[in-house]
Amino acid sequence: MHIKFQSLGPLLMGLLFFVSACQPAETEPTVEAPAEYLLAPSDLPDYEKNLDHAGFLANWTPEFYHKGMQIYRTQCYSCHGNLEQPGSIPNSRQFWNEAFRNGADPYSMYQTLTRGFGRMPPQMRLTPKEKYEVIHFIREEFIKDNNPEQYVEVTKAYIESLPPGDAPDVSGALVGSAKGSKWICSTAASASGAR
Ligand code: HEC
Repeated sequence: MHIKFQSLGPLLMGLLFFVSACQPAETEPTVEAPAEYLLAPSDLPDYEKNLDHAGFLANWTPEFYHKGMQIYRTQCYSCHGNLEQPGSIPNSRQFWNEAFRNGADPYSMYQTLTRGFGRMPPQMRLTPKEKYEVIHFIREEFIKDNNPEQYVEVTKAYIESLPPGDAPDVSGALVGSAKGSKWICSTAASASGAR
């Protein structure tokens, strides 16, 4: 076995040389380490673990926009700015003309706000409802008209794809403690192979 390995040596060397010689002359360096969440799921308060995201998305009212605007002005504007006034942090996301790095759909934005992402700090002081209010405001005020490729429609299919949680659901029908929801049942059934 020792002898055999030795005799393979030159062959391997030759192969290595061949492989390295065949590599493209300019290997692109890794552009940028991928940004990551700043908080792990285990760092979050318990109520974050079983939220009815679908309920928040299905029950938007005009009031969400106004509440969201207030939150944006007091908690986000200083870094992010708006169409007229750039924010104080130059590389904070410009919602009106940039692509999102961590997903522009409301649920992904919720994760960004909750766990922080890259240089975006987690918004520990906002309640889940407040987070969805400001998300709604950002979508309607900045993304929809100015950056439409980043505007993710909230369809029934989208809502149904969200993880199940506790509270009223899509149709407005009371799901209570997640027992009566059709989509929660069907999700669970398909996940477990039905029966
Ligand atoms: C301290 C400054 C600061 C504050 C305050 C701040 N942000 Fe950010 N935000 C940033 C920076 C910087 C980024 C870019 C993160 C990156 O790409 O690394 C960002 C990115 C984002 C993104 C996009 C992430 C992506 O997918 O590209 C969203 C959404 C966002 N912020 C929402 C908010 C909201 C809503 C508020 C207020 C509740 C807020 N931010 C407050 C600095 C801030």
